[in-house]
Amino acid sequence: MEPFGAWKQAQAMVRVTALASAVFVMLLVGAPGSGERNDYSSVSEAHRGCVEDAVDSIVRDAVRTQKRMAASLLRLHFHDCFVHGCDGSVLLDGNNSEKLAPGNNNSLRGFEVVDALKESITSKCDIQISCADILALAARSAVQSVSASHVTWSVPFGRYDSKSPYSNLTKDLPGTEDTMDIILKKFAAQGISDPKQVIALIGGGHTIGRTHCSFSRRRLYGNLTSISALYSDPQYVTYLRQECPKLQTDEQASAIEIDLDNTSRDSFDLGFFRSLREGRVAIRSDMVIGDPANSPDVRAAVTLCTDDAYAFYNTFASGMEVMGSAHILGREEGEIRTNCRRPNGYSSGGGGGGGQHYAMP
Ligand code: HEM
Repeated sequence: MEPFGAWKQAQAMVRVTALASAVFVMLLVGAPGSGERNDYSSVSEAHRGCVEDAVDSIVRDAVRTQKRMAASLLRLHFHDCFVHGCDGSVLLDGNNSEKLAPGNNNSLRGFEVVDALKESITSKCDIQISCADILALAARSAVQSVSASHVTWSVPFGRYDSKSPYSNLTKDLPGTEDTMDIILKKFAAQGISDPKQVIALIGGGHTIGRTHCSFSRRRLYGNLTSISALYSDPQYVTYLRQECPKLQTDEQASAIEIDLDNTSRDSFDLGFFRSLREGRVAIRSDMVIGDPANSPDVRAAVTLCTDDAYAFYNTFASGMEVMGSAHILGREEGEIRTNCRRPNGYSSGGGGGGGQHYAMP
């Protein structure tokens, strides 16, 4: 695998500008990975500007139409990067696709926005950009579109797309029943080994968006002994039990959605961490990161993100840069797909890659 060398010497600038106070903070973050730069990562400023403008305008329109789309695009990038690296594999259609794997099926959203982005870039900008790069840019525009503070990070180009899905690797994604130890290990496996970045990424993801009751049922009606050992507001648990009653079928539970951030579900802000402090978060893994029994470094990370908005935004932004560089494919292993939903050459019988056999529905 060819490392994503664009980050090697780069010192990325992460900017957080609070519009209210016009504070401008610049943070230089170190770069993971080593080796050669991917061969199309260095594009002209004109091309980059065209691509970024196209992505920004379509994502902002999509979020204007439906606020939740910001959350859905951010999550798509996360679920792309944690499964065989940021290679657009989550975007592929097919019977054995990642999008149909447990946890993703009927849960991931935003694919049609990525299609629109690909189409717009192809028609407006004279450059081929991978679907994985488009997703990384979309996630950044998505966060910016729901953030009153200007949270941003560097998104170098040069990720190649996979030639097949890797649904067998969706187990690498963290799950709602994971312990803090497992969560940290799963993030570390993607190169995110600083607990501060782990906590900021989870809190940044879950300060926007929704969850289905199916993900909260075990937390509400499962192993109550371990749940009661965790800090949780009884009134909020009562509210959740009303929203997600016990006697539902799985199908019914999957139809009900609740907010991940009980206070401000459509704003990228401190709402999640404030709710966590009050014991008012919906899914079990979110409770787990607020467990007072966690190690001092995890507790310190939660305190930092709760008490210091700029530290949270900057750590989230630097974490997104590390996540966005996870296991980048080189040209030999990947391609730049012309259609994000299928590998190139699919219609002529090609499209087999290093992962699973590619099969369309
Ligand atoms: C321990 C780690 C994590 C676990 C267990 C987890 C789990 C979940 C679950 C169960 C949902 C609800 C899905 C549904 O009901 O359909 C969800 C939603 C979401 N997650 Fe996470 N997540 C984690 C970390 C992250 C990270 C690191 C990010 C991004 C940086 C993120 C971003 C999101 C977003 C934005 C949503 C809402 C999506 C929407 O409304 O369409 N999550 N997550």
